[in-house]
Amino acid sequence: TEIAFVLGTRPEIIKLAPVIQACDRRGIGYVIVHTGQHYSDSLDSVFFDQLDLPDPEYDLAVGSGPHGEQTAEMLVGVERALDETAPEVVLVQGDTNSVLAGALAASKMDTELGHVEAGLRSFDREMPEETNRVLADHVADYHFAPTDRSKGYLLREGISAFRITVTGNTVVDAVERNLDIAREKSTVLADLGLAGSRYFLLTAHRAENVDDEERFRNLLAGAQRAGDAHDADVIYPMHPRSRSRVEEFGIDLPPRVRAVEPLEYLDFLQATASADLVLTDSGGVQEEACVLGVPCVTMRDNTERPETVDAGANRLSSCDPARIERSVAEMLGASDWENPFGDGDAAERILEALPLQTRSPEVSQ
Ligand code: UD1
Ligand code: UDP
Repeated sequence: TEIAFVLGTRPEIIKLAPVIQACDRRGIGYVIVHTGQHYSDSLDSVFFDQLDLPDPEYDLAVGSGPHGEQTAEMLVGVERALDETAPEVVLVQGDTNSVLAGALAASKMDTELGHVEAGLRSFDREMPEETNRVLADHVADYHFAPTDRSKGYLLREGISAFRITVTGNTVVDAVERNLDIAREKSTVLADLGLAGSRYFLLTAHRAENVDDEERFRNLLAGAQRAGDAHDADVIYPMHPRSRSRVEEFGIDLPPRVRAVEPLEYLDFLQATASADLVLTDSGGVQEEACVLGVPCVTMRDNTERPETVDAGANRLSSCDPARIERSVAEMLGASDWENPFGDGDAAERILEALPLQTRSPEVSQ
């Protein structure tokens, strides 16, 4: 086996899919080790189906739990899988607990580690994701930085330039490959009664927002005010974490906010591309909105995707209802910016940079 992909959550499946497919084109041998951090169909198997990915060789079925317990169980399982498959390189993507476990396991073994989406920084150590990405970067052998800015952060932390390749973000590869298919196949706009109407797309699942009742209520109040101000419905495909908090806190969603089940990838792409604006606290969704030319308001105090703000595609609003409403008014209608995340060939660049016995792609992109 040349590469082991260790993944476990929705965004990792989506953003590693282009790299896995590039391995298929080049005839590079790989195994997929799924930690099982995400296991509900709507966060997991639906993406394997839609993105045409093979079933994982390993499904560790770790599931949900406190950070230490979840990460520790993954570490044990990933180590066993790597021991059995002896890959040359382990690839992880992003900043979840699955990434931390994959990175730690690889770093203690005779296998090299590549971090896809290296060098992102929010500089907010309150976020578990920031700890995960910093630790993964500091044990990785190969850093695939999406932008020059992320390369700069890595250099500042003492990581050698020869270990870093600026590749662009594989999110662009995924969007380019799937947008036309989504436009052709997805019936989401008709299904949700959105065709031809003005709407905002909302995603909010970040622990620091939805686990804090006051912040969650404020975020929803902001979405309501923005929707009212512009006569737009706010469609909210709700992550299971958020769904549990709505129930636990006894929150009644405000009238403009329409909760729906988490969307499949093609439906989500189509719903994003057709939205008038995106409201989010997701990392990947900030990038996709920017790539698709849809203005974004990020309901956080900071972002590890400042390129989107600098490009004029995104604005930070925290969870303050008045700031959310104002940011939406300021961003609505914006669309003219350059995509800072590359040209959609990130996956090919990642494989080129790995010291594998690379073969020519069967299909040139
Ligand atoms: C995780 C990542 C986060 C990422 C997100 C992507 C960490 C620390 N967090 O957050 O960075 O943005 O994935 O979506 O790694 N649940 C289900 N079904 C599932 C998975 C989770 O119902 O398949 C529910 C459970 O109630 C669980 C909760 O969601 O307790 C949180 O799941 P968890 O994996 O801990 O974190 P996410 O919020 O998904
Ligand atoms: N996504 C999806 N359906 C949804 C919400 C998000 O397919 O209902 C996709 C979206 O296209 C993006 C990814 O999930 O590629 C983002 O994942 P998430 O917001 O869960 O995690 P983050 O990027 O914040 O870590």
